[in-house]
Amino acid sequence: MIVLLLIACAGEVDSGPGCELDEGGGHPTWSNFGEGFFLTYCQACHAVDSPSRFDAPDSVTFDTEAEVVPLIPLIREVVIDDETMPLGGGLPAEDLEQLGNYLDCREGMP
Ligand code: HEC
Repeated sequence: MIVLLLIACAGEVDSGPGCELDEGGGHPTWSNFGEGFFLTYCQACHAVDSPSRFDAPDSVTFDTEAEVVPLIPLIREVVIDDETMPLGGGLPAEDLEQLGNYLDCREGMP
């Protein structure tokens, strides 16, 4: 398990105010976290070319980080706050925590 230290972002990385850095000063990114998370939990229904999207809206796709970023507030709402996504909710707390930190870190980046 990754131990996250509550280090305030003192301008070392260009990321959101809630972004927690690990011991090495790193934080979750698309390549070390986001891509795998959305592939595992979301793309069955939200990949552009999924054969069974279960009527997920055409406007909500998560194949790339560029598609995820504009939807950060909505993703936070349905996955972390309401736990209605993935359909039925129920993600492990650790995954929700990591997702929250990824979204916080990503939000502040250019
Ligand atoms: C089993 C299929 C399925 C999976 C897996 C799934 N979704 Fe969805 N998603 C849907 C459907 C169907 C809708 C449209 C109906 C609704 O909003 O409940 C939707 C809608 C959404 C919306 C739009 C909500 C709104 O209010 O406009 C977001 C954002 C979303 N999903 C995010 C996610 C994320 C993030 C994941 C992965 C953690 C995920 N979904 C996993 C089927 C799925």
